Amino acid sequence: MVSLLDVQGVSAGYSSVPVIHEVDLHVNAGEVVALVGPNGAGKTTTMNAIGGFVKTLHGEIKFGGQRMPSAPHRRARNGLAFVNENRSVLRTLSTRENLKLARVDPARCLELFPELGDRLDLKAGDLSGGEQQMLAVGRALAREPRLLMVDELSLGLAPLTTERLFGAVRGAADTARTGILLVEQHLNNVMRFADRVYLMLSGRVAFEGSASELAASRSRVVQAYFGRGEAEQQDRG
Ligand SMILES: Nc1ncnc2c1ncn2[C@@H]1O[C@H](COP(=O)(O)OP(=O)(O)O)[C@@H](O)[C@H]1O
Ligand SMILES: [Mg+2]
Repeated sequence: MVSLLDVQGVSAGYSSVPVIHEVDLHVNAGEVVALVGPNGAGKTTTMNAIGGFVKTLHGEIKFGGQRMPSAPHRRARNGLAFVNENRSVLRTLSTRENLKLARVDPARCLELFPELGDRLDLKAGDLSGGEQQMLAVGRALAREPRLLMVDELSLGLAPLTTERLFGAVRGAADTARTGILLVEQHLNNVMRFADRVYLMLSGRVAFEGSASELAASRSRVVQAYFGRGEAEQQDRG
């Protein structure tokens, strides 16, 4: 089976200095894949390389079996959607205008996140962090991408909002066969919603497996690499 996204031996970085090394990673249609790892591990750089925002120095990225075009907008046209760490909502425009600019019917976004219904005419900058993330994810999913990447899906958000966001991406994977690749800090969320997990450490993939395999080797992997304190924190999170 050809993977929807196939990252093969990719090194990428800034000013020709690689910060991620020989990364192999794939996402199948209908799969939710989580990228985890400590700060500075290279998760965002990996996402940016896939999105076309950081140059690939070595290796190859294939999408639907084809080599990716280099320009980000051409990757987007091929069905690759990317919600980056900054959520990329236009803060001075209303929610409705943000959707209109992306050529998204607000009704489609509201099917996913009805709670945005009374927020349509507010400036996106006046929405809560959770509402902004719903707008960013709703806007992306409403365009029915083949692959959605979300960097830091739940960072700084309340548990209920996080639940809604994970529900929406899991739903897209299950019903529309959308591939989902997301960066997530909370291992508990990863266990509950992701099919597979990649752990990155110092720019390399250090562990790949199902969420349950990560759970099984949790004490070893998590304690060895995240440190005991963080493992306990993640347990509570
Ligand atoms: N724009 C940049 N220019 C130079 N180095 C960067 C840039 N962005 C990130 N880095 C470096 O690349 C490494 C990986 O960072 P990043 O991909 O943001 O990690 P993560 O998302 O896992 O926290 C870090 O050492 C970081 O300092
Ligand atoms: Mg990051």
